[in-house]
Amino acid sequence: MNTARALRRVVAQLADFLRWPSISTDPAHRRDVAGCARWLVAHLRSIGLAATLHPTPGHPVIVAHGPRKPGKPTVLIYGHYDVQPPDPVELWHSPPFEPAIRGCKLFARGAADNKGQVFAHITAVAQALREPDAALPNVIFLIEGEEEIGSLSIEPFLRAHRRELRPDFVLVSDTSMFAKNLPTITCSLRGVAAFELRVRGPARDLHSGIFGGTVANPATVLAQLIAALHDPRTGRVRVPGFYDGVRPLTAAQRRAWRRLPFSEDGYRRALGVPQLAGESGFTSLERRWARPTLEVNGIFGGYQGEGSKTVIPAWAGAKFTARLVPDQSPQRVVAATRRYLCAIAPPGVKLEFIPGHSAEPYIAPMDSRCMRAATNALRSVWGRPPVLVGEGGSIPIITSFKRILGADSVMVGFGLPDANAHSPDESLDLDVFARAIRASRLLLAELAR
Ligand code: BES
Ligand code: ZN
Repeated sequence: MNTARALRRVVAQLADFLRWPSISTDPAHRRDVAGCARWLVAHLRSIGLAATLHPTPGHPVIVAHGPRKPGKPTVLIYGHYDVQPPDPVELWHSPPFEPAIRGCKLFARGAADNKGQVFAHITAVAQALREPDAALPNVIFLIEGEEEIGSLSIEPFLRAHRRELRPDFVLVSDTSMFAKNLPTITCSLRGVAAFELRVRGPARDLHSGIFGGTVANPATVLAQLIAALHDPRTGRVRVPGFYDGVRPLTAAQRRAWRRLPFSEDGYRRALGVPQLAGESGFTSLERRWARPTLEVNGIFGGYQGEGSKTVIPAWAGAKFTARLVPDQSPQRVVAATRRYLCAIAPPGVKLEFIPGHSAEPYIAPMDSRCMRAATNALRSVWGRPPVLVGEGGSIPIITSFKRILGADSVMVGFGLPDANAHSPDESLDLDVFARAIRASRLLLAELAR
């Protein structure tokens, strides 16, 4: 039972979890990431789990086992305790690492992505363990600290621990609900491939008056290269081979997604853009969930300070990520983009290409026992069956679970569309959080039956 008092206590614990600025990408926060991991291990032990902190070359991985339940299936509950940087901090209405409740929402970086969601499952298991004969299957928590930077250490970790980790199912709550009143199961994720480009020109920054007009300006060339990535008329990526292997949408898929309660104009207004844009011939949901994209995540180079400085920068750079769908391969997409950019770059510059993290796209099978348990649990708590959606984001480890542990994932998300993951004022809806705890209890109880 979630009495108001019990929920307040759980939210206070979650707030302690959220106070850690466990920003995995920022070396300045390495100790905070480690401190957060230690806090979490202590919490998992305090509720009766056998929790271990495993150092890795990156950030620690945490594994926690529940009591052994011979004859029952094993469910591995995955989550991440690392968070994205809070920038731009000045746009938050309360400090990102000082959790604050306004209305029915808890605001903090990581509230939805992913500390709040994984804490719902931790709390469900904690409640079950307080009962005399806990209705639980074998439960293993695997909570990592590198999800937001591509889960680089986790793959070798899974290989090394494949005998200890032998789940029948993986349960992941790191996705969104389609709407607050619509319990949601995610059936697919896009993959991702990150890379960086440096355009190098003169040996040093040059006076733009003395030398301007005689050398290629790396910032101009970078802008030309970026502009050449898309066809402005159709929104399609121009890189030859980019769409190789892309599975076309099926008519059934398109019909099912068109039945979801979604307004293109409401979506446009919520994002604050004058007009939506993208690949022609597809709806916004199709573009987000089933079509690949190539995005610029940042552009840099040249003088960025106050006022003006008359230079031709020696170099300019940009960060990119492609989002991928079955059956594209991250490596092939990055190689094709590299070939294309090198082919069209003018001779006055050199290109340097730095590959980054990647993840494969994933499609979840819908007919497992865990999928049925999730469907039933959501139906009981929300009073209606879940909607089935795709997602445009990526969770790199999910295909490693399949490849290394042989287990498929069931993705039940509790972040709301306006949770502001990765943005200022990230939040967790506490009403949804309370329901998520109940749903997790029901799901686990059904697996224990
Ligand atoms: N929770 C998200 C992934 C997500 C978001 C899935 C929304 C479905 C819907 C996760 O924490 C995330 O942000 N992943 C990164 C992975 C990347 C850094 C490799 C992403 O998708 O950008
Ligand atoms: Zn995230």
